[in-house]
Amino acid sequence: MVSASGLLGVVLLARHGDRLEFFQDPLTYNPALTFLTPLGSVQEQQLGSFLRSTYLDPASPTFIEGIITDVANITQLEVRADAAGEGSVILNSVQGLLQGLFPPTKDNNITLANGTTVVAPLGGYQYIPVESVEPNLDISLNSFTSCPNFDKHILEFYNSAPFLKEAQVAAPFLQELQPFLGNRSTNFTNMFNIFDFVNVQSIHNATFLKSIPPNFPKQAYAFANFHENGVFTDAVSNGIGNIAMRTILPSVFSALQQMATGSGPLKLFLSEISYKPFISLFNLTGAAVADPGIAGIVDYASVVALELRAGAGGPTVSMRFKNGTTDGALHDLQLFGADSVTLDQFVAALAPSAVNSTQEWCTACNQTSLRGCAVFQ
Ligand SMILES: *[C@@H]1O[C@H](CO)[C@@H](O)[C@H](O)[C@H]1NC(C)=O
Ligand SMILES: *[C@@H]1O[C@H](CO)[C@@H](O)[C@H](O)[C@H]1NC(C)=O
Ligand SMILES: *[C@@H]1O[C@H](CO)[C@@H](O)[C@H](O)[C@H]1NC(C)=O
Ligand SMILES: *[C@@H]1O[C@H](CO)[C@@H](O)[C@H](O)[C@H]1NC(C)=O
Ligand SMILES: *[C@@H]1O[C@H](CO)[C@@H](O)[C@H](O)[C@H]1NC(C)=O
Ligand SMILES: *[C@@H]1O[C@H](CO)[C@@H](O)[C@H](O)[C@H]1NC(C)=O
Ligand SMILES: *[C@@H]1O[C@H](CO)[C@@H](O)[C@H](O)[C@H]1NC(C)=O
Ligand SMILES: *[C@@H]1O[C@H](CO)[C@@H](O)[C@H](O)[C@H]1NC(C)=O
Ligand SMILES: *[C@@H]1O[C@H](CO)[C@@H](O)[C@H](O)[C@H]1NC(C)=O
Ligand SMILES: *[C@@H]1O[C@H](CO)[C@@H](O)[C@H](O)[C@H]1NC(C)=O
Repeated sequence: MVSASGLLGVVLLARHGDRLEFFQDPLTYNPALTFLTPLGSVQEQQLGSFLRSTYLDPASPTFIEGIITDVANITQLEVRADAAGEGSVILNSVQGLLQGLFPPTKDNNITLANGTTVVAPLGGYQYIPVESVEPNLDISLNSFTSCPNFDKHILEFYNSAPFLKEAQVAAPFLQELQPFLGNRSTNFTNMFNIFDFVNVQSIHNATFLKSIPPNFPKQAYAFANFHENGVFTDAVSNGIGNIAMRTILPSVFSALQQMATGSGPLKLFLSEISYKPFISLFNLTGAAVADPGIAGIVDYASVVALELRAGAGGPTVSMRFKNGTTDGALHDLQLFGADSVTLDQFVAALAPSAVNSTQEWCTACNQTSLRGCAVFQ
């Protein structure tokens, strides 16, 4: 039964919601603990509702064929969340998203032998299983820490001509910004942390928001975008700079292939992640060539959707992006310079960059002891 949409399934990559300050060591990206805020949960729940109206409403032009919409059939869904780095921020975010995607419903009930009907707690709350991707057991969603070759790549970027030039451009601004930064380093290598501090304070601290010149947060964001785009991309697709997405590719291929063949019930695959893999994905697919504005830190609760459609010459993949809560719609992005490609082309183009196992990651990173690499020595 083929409907008008022809949509066979969707792979979603979603960023977590608003959180408290997040410090990352500029040389290793080793993280410090942080926490999701109630605002972050609301952003994620709103994202879930948006995705529900886009993919789970039979009246939507992008309704997923055959998906059960009200009481979730969990065999059709696969959900993973990065449990590294930001503490529980990403795991808690995905709960908010799922609450919007499959909200409580009285239909989530059962009638017992004695005739009593019992509705699930909280008005029919739905419990969708989430795989917590633990960094020491599975490198896939957080592959850029404890990776010596990635650290080397970061240092090379910090010593590159474009970086040193941008650092000079940023220097007068950072000097003006310094009084607002507490004792934080204004070394340009620290630009992510500078931006993050300014962004978090601008959202949560009324005194700070009143005192900072209105154009400062925007400028800090622009410099941080340059910084993070350099760290999480690479001149060559299979370079270590793209590692954040390269380790996610196998799960994307596998999900799309299951949806394409109908070999299993899977219709919707969701990975909840940090901002880093987005940058690498836009670099790997050439999407940032057509849309240079996306090269940087996507907003909280952003989402990328890889949509799989039935097509005469085999299923096709297209990519869309919604930049956080203030962005009201998904926007088409290019894949390798095209609006869509066949699934075979998609896999063929990205497979050479895929890091398919922990062992391959250990080799790519030159990591010999941590993250399960010791067993391969
Ligand atoms: C239980 O769910 C069914 C749909 O499966 C619905 O028709 C019915 O109204 C629900 N019962 C209650 C008590 O909400
Ligand atoms: C039916 O069984 C449920 C669960 O054991 C119980 O809560 C409920 O009171 C029973 N209803 C009747 C009418 O006995
Ligand atoms: C900055 O450093 C000085 C001296 O080390 C210290 O007294 C002060 O409390 C620090 N300020 C902040 C905001 O951390
Ligand atoms: C900025 O940080 C880098 C990396 O830690 C360091 O090599 C460099 O010396 C620092 N620059 C200044 C001016 O402190
Ligand atoms: C809020 O911002 C003001 C002004 O920058 C600062 O003095 C204060 O410490 C900040 N409060 C918190 C809780 O960070
Ligand atoms: C990926 O980013 C690097 C900069 O880090 C750039 O040199 C390269 O051209 C980009 N690749 C594509 C396909 O846009
Ligand atoms: C969910 O879908 C599977 C087929 O994929 C089916 O076997 C199962 O009965 C469904 N579960 C419910 C609760 O409807
Ligand atoms: C994403 O949203 C943020 C916040 O609204 C905005 O500053 C940024 O320019 C947007 N980026 C893109 C690529 O749309
Ligand atoms: C990783 O898997 C893809 C297929 O998904 C394959 O094409 C590629 O060769 C594999 N990479 C390595 C290094 O084995
Ligand atoms: C891998 O790391 C070791 C140190 O742990 C170093 O001696 C070696 O040169 C590195 N190999 C490569 C290929 O970078």
